[in-house]
Amino acid sequence: MNAPLKHTSDITDAEESLAQQEAQSVLDSKSATEVAMQNTLLTPRFYTTDFDEMDAIDVTPVREDWDKLIAQMVSDPNKGHFKKNEDWDHVDWENMEPGLKKEFIDFLISSCTAEFSGCVLYKEMKRRGNNKDITQLFQLMARDEARHAGFINDALREAGVAVNLGFLTQKKKYTYFRPKFIYYATYLSEKIGYARYITIFRHLQEHPEHRFHPIFKWFEEWCNDEFSHGEAFALLMKTDPKLTSGFNVYWIKFFLTAVYSTMYVRDHQRPAFHAALGVDPDWYAHEVFTKTSKLSEQIFPITLDIDHPRWQSGLERMQKANADLAKATEEGRFLAKIGAQVRAVSAFVSLITIPARKHKVPASTRLEPAY
Ligand SMILES: [Fe+2]
Ligand SMILES: [Fe+2]
Repeated sequence: MNAPLKHTSDITDAEESLAQQEAQSVLDSKSATEVAMQNTLLTPRFYTTDFDEMDAIDVTPVREDWDKLIAQMVSDPNKGHFKKNEDWDHVDWENMEPGLKKEFIDFLISSCTAEFSGCVLYKEMKRRGNNKDITQLFQLMARDEARHAGFINDALREAGVAVNLGFLTQKKKYTYFRPKFIYYATYLSEKIGYARYITIFRHLQEHPEHRFHPIFKWFEEWCNDEFSHGEAFALLMKTDPKLTSGFNVYWIKFFLTAVYSTMYVRDHQRPAFHAALGVDPDWYAHEVFTKTSKLSEQIFPITLDIDHPRWQSGLERMQKANADLAKATEEGRFLAKIGAQVRAVSAFVSLITIPARKHKVPASTRLEPAY
């Protein structure tokens, strides 16, 4: 017999949250799940890695900071937060401008998939590991991501769609990344996630007339979770100085360029969404990159020169090439597709060859959210 269902915001165990999502999934829609199932360069992916190697990490060199961070996460300041309450204003989905509705639903599905992708990876690490420090951290992060994904799905259900997360776990393709690539990619996605959520939250504090959906009210506490997750990955990388020196600095540059340019291209696919928020996507991108770069100085020895004359033009070329690629793919024009791919690669090369800014990494890694 099934136990009565708790709301995902109250659940502290990702496994339980998953079971709950599974039980709900009979109600969830096929089309949203299909969108979440897509694997393109721009859609959120699911990852798997060498869990044994990750399990072997020894956090002794960062023990003091580690224990503080874990204690803060164990205290669970956001338990019960990710639930609709009286601040959740009525959403008039029926009368939402169709262009905006489409882009916003797309935004929610992609965010839900990204949150859930974190949950699946972290939960798996927790399940496979034996190292108490590591499994505890990953259990706590999986708990948070399960809540985030569950909350977005609550919002989607009001629009008559939702992602079937149980189905996704079983059927979505998993991409293998070596642990060090998981650290770079996940660290960055947590920190850029923080920067994205806090930038929107602060903007809407100043311009509440643009808050066209209540979910944005939840972004402040939300981004603090992502901030802590990023801190944890910074500490993990700190345990092994090789990860952030020597040839690995090129990998760091690659991931910075890939993560920033993907965000730029993806956001520029949603003009109506950004117009409704009153946000210029170019301003927003620059703002988010500036914050993320400042934060990532805590552990990465380089930052990208986002004020270099080639930076903005490279992003624009990349965005145009991707738009043309999507169009050519849709119309089945093979040669146009190849042409667009070549242009996208050349734009990426132009971006990644911009000389990076170097700095001395501080002795102490830990930061607190300050934006
Ligand atoms: Fe999250
Ligand atoms: Fe996170």
